[in-house]
Amino acid sequence: PYFEELRGFRDLEMKLKQTFDLERVIITPGDSDTDPWVKDELGKRAVSFLQSQLNIKQTVAVTGGTSMAAVAKMMAPTDLGKGSMFVPARGGLGERVENQANTICAEMANKMKGDYRLLYVPDPLSEETYHSIIEEPGVKETLHIIKQADIVMHGIGDAFTMAKRRKAETNVLENLKSGKAISEAFGYYFDQNGQIVHKVRTVGMQLEDLSHIKTVVAIAGGNSKAKAIESYFRQGKSNVLITDEGAAKALIKDL
Ligand code: G3H
Repeated sequence: PYFEELRGFRDLEMKLKQTFDLERVIITPGDSDTDPWVKDELGKRAVSFLQSQLNIKQTVAVTGGTSMAAVAKMMAPTDLGKGSMFVPARGGLGERVENQANTICAEMANKMKGDYRLLYVPDPLSEETYHSIIEEPGVKETLHIIKQADIVMHGIGDAFTMAKRRKAETNVLENLKSGKAISEAFGYYFDQNGQIVHKVRTVGMQLEDLSHIKTVVAIAGGNSKAKAIESYFRQGKSNVLITDEGAAKALIKDL
């Protein structure tokens, strides 16, 4: 039965790869909605994938969220990241400190003996602050490194779950409702066709920057995230998906 399960996953991986035109899909058994340890397994798979890519010095940009926090948590100390640089992909997005990109980025760099730069910016930023803060030398240096990322690792969330978790203002929630937002990634909210409904104003990577980056890895699992994953990948901005059985089976059913 174990091998049958593995073969089943291989078929599922193939189907998802073709549907969303991805370079790689990795599925881990279980459903992280019902079994929290599955999120740790997702994290482990993401760590192995990242380590397989770090044969030369690389710049790795990471987002926040509980899935990315699981990646950092599951990383065993190694020196594979020596010479590599870790940066947060974008400024804070209203997350608790343990789920912020800065925290995750520093933990990953420390565990892998890499270097890191952080972004200290308030969020969300007013238009005025945005324009002055990007001129600050310290921020400018980090932004420059972010734009040169070789690898990006990010989560994908359900739009309303994320907006509520980040305590979005009423007008933002209304905007998301009228725009029929389904998914969230990088502080961008998308509808079911992958069109942008709303964007949190903060510094760092912008969605269009992803097209210049060689490896963009999405880490998202759980049956409840299937619609969000599908919505995000409708406009295909990432080329690797690391997910779980719960999300993968629901995704296939949806198609
Ligand atoms: O940035 C957050 C992600 O979009 C989703 O967060 O991994 O906690 O579900 P999560």
